[in-house]
Amino acid sequence: MANVTVIGAQWGDEGKGKVVDWLSSRADVVVRFQGGHNAGHTLVVGNQTYKLSLLPSGLVRGKLGVIGNGVVIDPEALLAEIARVRAQGLTVTPETLRIADNAVLILPVHGAIDRAREAARGAHRIGTTGRGIGPAYEDKVARRAIRVCDLAEPETLSHKLDELLLHHNTLLHGLGAETFEKQALLDRLLALAPDILPYAEPVWERLDDLRRAGKRILFEGAQAVMLDVDHGTYPFVTSSNTVAATAASGAGIAPSAIGFVLGIAKAYTTRVGSGPFPTELTDDIGKLLGERGHEFGTVTGRPRRCGWFDAVLVRQAVKVGGVQGLVLTKLDVLDGLAELKVCTGYRIDGELVKRLPAAMGAQARAEPVYEVMEGWSGSTRGARSWAELPAQAVKYVKRVEELVEAQVTLLSTSPERDDTILVHDPFEG
Ligand code: GDP
Ligand code: IMO
Ligand code: MG
Repeated sequence: MANVTVIGAQWGDEGKGKVVDWLSSRADVVVRFQGGHNAGHTLVVGNQTYKLSLLPSGLVRGKLGVIGNGVVIDPEALLAEIARVRAQGLTVTPETLRIADNAVLILPVHGAIDRAREAARGAHRIGTTGRGIGPAYEDKVARRAIRVCDLAEPETLSHKLDELLLHHNTLLHGLGAETFEKQALLDRLLALAPDILPYAEPVWERLDDLRRAGKRILFEGAQAVMLDVDHGTYPFVTSSNTVAATAASGAGIAPSAIGFVLGIAKAYTTRVGSGPFPTELTDDIGKLLGERGHEFGTVTGRPRRCGWFDAVLVRQAVKVGGVQGLVLTKLDVLDGLAELKVCTGYRIDGELVKRLPAAMGAQARAEPVYEVMEGWSGSTRGARSWAELPAQAVKYVKRVEELVEAQVTLLSTSPERDDTILVHDPFEG
């Protein structure tokens, strides 16, 4: 039986949460493998809206949720999120949620560093979520991170905090920000430990058992390929790899187990935070897309920047991300627009190119080259079959498929769970 991996193919917020929720009816377990509570995944089920940051979206359907080693976990944020979704009626217990004992923790000091550095960058800020994601991943590769398993060893924790704080307090002091006291941090972590440790285990072993038992695993990506620390619009990226390959290393499973890779893309483009965005619209159409699409960051509430669909970018994401099938979301937001534009290339310093170059300056100078398409007057909102789509909307989808070199697997036509068109079951491979 095939597994499925879901990743974002633009700059995040493509509707991964909705897609994972829809697909999880066909899965046994849902696994997060990178990112942290910088992610915000929205699920609309009848009159309930769930906003998940760290919890795998399959929990809403009562599926086993796993937080893999590739995720950076803020324990306080995790406990707060568990309390929040419990208040909405969901069940989260150590039976329904497992977290990797070797996952890295985000500590209060990481958020402080993140925010102090952003403030120091001024106009050159990345526009991070300020949640300590970058500094926590830095600590991981610097080999000074505190991991979930350390919560069970007070002595290890105490010793590791000394090294970690030596580094961070020096930096915070230099940035003119408040420093952290070791004992207070240690007490805070030890107080949390009894609430976190019951969820912790070597999840690689459980995933291996599930895989052998023929269970279906759904890997839920956060962020997106253009925010990938290697392949994205560096340095305006997040601090993890977001491509499908990360599902294997971020969960502790074979690359061959990640299954069919779905790339999620909006029928237009959005981005939160700073950085290049060739098809950005600062006119009334951009405003209209933002209003119709309710384009406000799930985590920070910041308005998302909006623009036309960029086929060059998504094609690149398909190639480097390992995408085998495309999910096009928010088609309904384009309803009624007389004319639609799709970016098919960039003009950079007078030259026509079909990819986003790696260099920051060249990315900023990329001018979109558009193909203009006729819009549709009918509605796609809530459509659940191809037959319900206006002919011109079908043409738009077909053209997108051609340009990005991937077939559409699913279409989404509203935030609601069931307003989805299945073209091909990704679990069939
Ligand atoms: P994620 O981070 O990729 O999970 O996406 P977010 O949840 O941050 O943002 C996507 C937003 O679009 C959410 O508010 C969803 O409810 C909404 N959404 C998802 N699919 C559709 C769709 O097909 N049409 C419309 N209008 N909204 C959608
Ligand atoms: P989901 O999973 C959209 C962006 C931030 C910022 C950059 C770096 O909901 O799609 P970070 O805090 O990660 O160091 O910020 O990445 N960013 C996201 N944008 N959706 C997300 O997650 C994001 N997670 C991070 O806005 O530009
Ligand atoms: Mg989001």
